[in-house]
Amino acid sequence: MFEPLSPIVWRDGQVEIIDQTRLPLELVLIKLRTVEEVWEAIKTLKVRGAPAIGIAAALGLYLAIKDSQAADKKGFQTELSRAADYLASSRPTAVNLCWALQQVQQAVGLAATDDVSSLKEVVLSAALELRAGDEKMCRDIGCQGAPLLQDLEAVLTHCNAGTLATARYGTALAPIYHLAARGKLLKVFVDETRPLLQGARLTAWELQQAGIPVTLITDSMAATVMARGWVQAVIVGADRIAANGDTANKIGTYGLAILAREHGLPFYVAAPSSTFDLSIATGEQIPIEERAAAEVSCFGGQPVAPQGVNIFNPAFDVTPHRYITAIITEKGVIRPPFEANLPVIMGK
Ligand code: MRU
Repeated sequence: MFEPLSPIVWRDGQVEIIDQTRLPLELVLIKLRTVEEVWEAIKTLKVRGAPAIGIAAALGLYLAIKDSQAADKKGFQTELSRAADYLASSRPTAVNLCWALQQVQQAVGLAATDDVSSLKEVVLSAALELRAGDEKMCRDIGCQGAPLLQDLEAVLTHCNAGTLATARYGTALAPIYHLAARGKLLKVFVDETRPLLQGARLTAWELQQAGIPVTLITDSMAATVMARGWVQAVIVGADRIAANGDTANKIGTYGLAILAREHGLPFYVAAPSSTFDLSIATGEQIPIEERAAAEVSCFGGQPVAPQGVNIFNPAFDVTPHRYITAIITEKGVIRPPFEANLPVIMGK
């Protein structure tokens, strides 16, 4: 059976990641030795995808404090909190990042020891537990989502919500991998996902590696693919889901959701519980990262726009909950009304 690579592992006291900026041309593993290197890898999308950046940040927290000379627990926690603020500043939208940092800090707070070297071990084990937990959550998302897709011929996905975006198995791609392991090969249409081409570079690559039939399209071709009846559902990941089900995901997701509604197709969001932010009522409160203008004005390193033109480059958009057919989580499938049903499943 195909076993996907893990894009992020803890090896020899370092964080080892697949450098996602170099795919699909080369598969390069790099080692991150300091918290600054982890911050930079997250910022520049060497490691990316909501769950993966949470795991990287948690391990980065350990790199930040492993040589701490703090005299006591209080001093240690102050250093930890400073490092967490720094790591959280790398990317604002995916809540998994802050969630992971909070989980590690909470584990230290609850630890029944004041000994600083034991507390360092608590940080490392909490980070490794998050990594293992993500693997399990994604596997379970696969089980929960598979029945929704098993009778379909093809689906459309956007960006990369696969293995590369998580510890392993992915979120939106998890049900597809789950079905493939049981002999059902679903066809997958993949949006290239401008401006940074996560669909073309990453999703098309990892599905091809897994032997899943994949067809790459540009973002502007999604409507045609739907109109021709070539896909029977859309499935995407998420970076943050508000209490009413509004979902932030890669820029372009909102448009796809509207297209799916117009064509009478179900629009599924797949996400682990670490992606839910029940502290915010609606998607309006989700901070949307804006990235460098050059990501839009250049293609493959070459300028493709007149110098000095105004550029708008939001990395994410928010899909209003009314367009979402169901949210697939590791605990179950949540259907509207999300405001009422989300706390029930999340509370499990
Ligand atoms: O900017 P990116 O590549 O980190 O954006 C990633 C996405 O939007 C994914 O769809 C999302 O993080 C879900 S990952 C399981």
